[in-house]
Amino acid sequence: MKADTSGRCVAVVGAQWGDEGKGKIIDVLSEEATLVARYQGGANAGHTVRVDGDEFILHLIPSGVLYEDVRCLLGNGVVVDPWTLLEERDALEERGVAMDGRLGVSARAHLVLPYHQLLDGAQEENRGSDRIGTTGRGIGPAYRDKAGRTGLRVADLADEDRCRRVVEGRVDDANTLLEKAGVEERADADEILERLDEIRDEILGLATDTGQEIRRELDRAAGRVLLEGAQGSLLDIDHGTYPYVTSSTTTAAGAAAGVGIGPRVIDEVVGVVKAYTTRVGNGPLPTELEGEAEERLRELGSEFGATTGRPRRVGWFDGGVVDYAAGVNGLTALAVTKLDVLDEFDEIRVGDGYELDGEPVESFPARADDLDRVDPVYETWEGWDGSTAGCTGWRALPEGARRYLKRLEEIADTPIRYVSVGAARSDFVRVGG
Ligand code: IMP
Repeated sequence: MKADTSGRCVAVVGAQWGDEGKGKIIDVLSEEATLVARYQGGANAGHTVRVDGDEFILHLIPSGVLYEDVRCLLGNGVVVDPWTLLEERDALEERGVAMDGRLGVSARAHLVLPYHQLLDGAQEENRGSDRIGTTGRGIGPAYRDKAGRTGLRVADLADEDRCRRVVEGRVDDANTLLEKAGVEERADADEILERLDEIRDEILGLATDTGQEIRRELDRAAGRVLLEGAQGSLLDIDHGTYPYVTSSTTTAAGAAAGVGIGPRVIDEVVGVVKAYTTRVGNGPLPTELEGEAEERLRELGSEFGATTGRPRRVGWFDGGVVDYAAGVNGLTALAVTKLDVLDEFDEIRVGDGYELDGEPVESFPARADDLDRVDPVYETWEGWDGSTAGCTGWRALPEGARRYLKRLEEIADTPIRYVSVGAARSDFVRVGG
């Protein structure tokens, strides 16, 4: 007889364009978790968590890692740069985070190899004005090899002949493409194989079956699992603003496939949203601000990419986006982050739907070009008196801020369960808790 798992397997997804503050939410929720697993993406993610004034930026290892009893997994849906993974683990250890026996990576996860990064850069160059603005971490080319059935997986490291065959074949193809793209740099199969040799045993030592581990964990009465999304719903390969997206399923359905469990095992889906909107990279951003307001919001929110350092584009909260994301993910709760950044504004705007060519838009546009042309329908709100910064309870929030949150809840038709009002773990409000 299987244990009742209700409420014990929670997926946390970004409900905008990434950088919503998932790292902080996962970090706080991990206190109650026994296992945290990433399910997609790779080292393109940059999850920032701050503990006791120390800042950690995690690219691959799940944000739950700072709680030392939590097991951390990278699911089969993640594309793993093995050198980055080991460096990140070692850096955590150097800063006093015990890592022994706590990290696992799916034997089925695909590897990101140096030729993927070279191709990522060359393809971006060649796209000219249609550049996606990728993070340059080789993510698209690695997923392309996966879907094209020419990838190398963690488990393949045990088979040296296979590694050589795959790497030599892919390096040949990559170098032909690089030459065509006019890029001078070339990938070197022998060098890659040598570097893989150096880490083979360590990576194989981390290999596991993530689905089996999670199912076993949930069979234990005390087991609590968090599935950690990277990027955001609007960067989803299917549901995002294609082609200005990443190459994986960032939405909640990808969480099951990306670790190897059935969809019904997940019983809650928390969507993380900023109290406003940001985006890095190109593509539509309907509520984007320009000029002084843009600079102000970017500075107040410290909106610079955690992976690339690029200034993030910023805009007002876009209800059209979050309502769409709520539907695509089946959100059961919202976590609103960086509310304190809006403390400084006398006037705040909220987008609630769009018009296109003067007509209301009934369904979220499938074409990026259409989304680029929409006019958001704005509500204008007076800013609130007082500060939300550091509040730890709903009643402590200024009344105007509470009204603002209630409105976001209404627009997304999803209850707000958590509000983050600062970088520290303690700057956190549990609504109704
Ligand atoms: P890629 O994932 O590096 O291929 O980049 C594709 C798009 O996703 C670009 O617009 C990136 O800026 C964006 N992106 C990728 N990872 C993140 C992230 O962690 N946060 C925000 N945007 C991201």
